[in-house]
Amino acid sequence: QPKAFIFDLDGVITDTAEYHYQAWKRLADEIGIYIDRQFNEELKGIGRMESLEKILALKPELEKLSVDKKENLAAKKNKYYKELLKSLAPADILPGILPLIQEIRLRGMKIALGSASKNAQRVLEQLELTNYFDYIVDAAKVSKGKPHPETFLTAADALGVPYDFCIGIEDAPSGVTAVNEAGMFSVGVGSKEALSHSDYRVNQTDELNFDRIIEAYGLVSV
Ligand code: BG6
Ligand code: MG
Repeated sequence: QPKAFIFDLDGVITDTAEYHYQAWKRLADEIGIYIDRQFNEELKGIGRMESLEKILALKPELEKLSVDKKENLAAKKNKYYKELLKSLAPADILPGILPLIQEIRLRGMKIALGSASKNAQRVLEQLELTNYFDYIVDAAKVSKGKPHPETFLTAADALGVPYDFCIGIEDAPSGVTAVNEAGMFSVGVGSKEALSHSDYRVNQTDELNFDRIIEAYGLVSV
């Protein structure tokens, strides 16, 4: 039996992955760079400055901007993102997430957050979910972002649970890689194309079912 679940935030618990995309898209438009949803798959799960670098790389003359200018652009994106967050409320928790969290609690297992976002605490607060989490890892607590496993290792260490007794739930290709590299069981939420490396996968959150996840975990861990 697993002992802990570590949830990614954006795109798993709530659809802020879409807000991140819209905010980046708005910024990219302003600087004359075209991005689409397919390109956005590469941005999912990775940090703010890294995301900006990937976008700027699409227009080589912008890659050499000064650190100051890059920080201004990142701050602007965050301003757009926070505008979108304003109306975020418990009704925006994705289907199936609250029942899953409650079931995990009921079975006496631990829950942590493993997010790359500096806005993670605020998002959890607005969703009124903070109390369900035994530990929160956000961008401030790690030095190496996903796909590096540090986010998930840090969460498991804080919970005091061995890595192979943890289940990580992710919507980002980089996030699934991070869970796998941490030696944990990975649950992917998203397309087969993007998340073929997950140990178990569903298309969307309403298909997340506690017993099915535990069953899948049991099949690989014995
Ligand atoms: C991750 C998102 O959770 O957080 C990324 O998947 C985002 O899209 C990253 O860029 C950083 O978020 P923030 O809120 O610190 O800019
Ligand atoms: Mg995500």
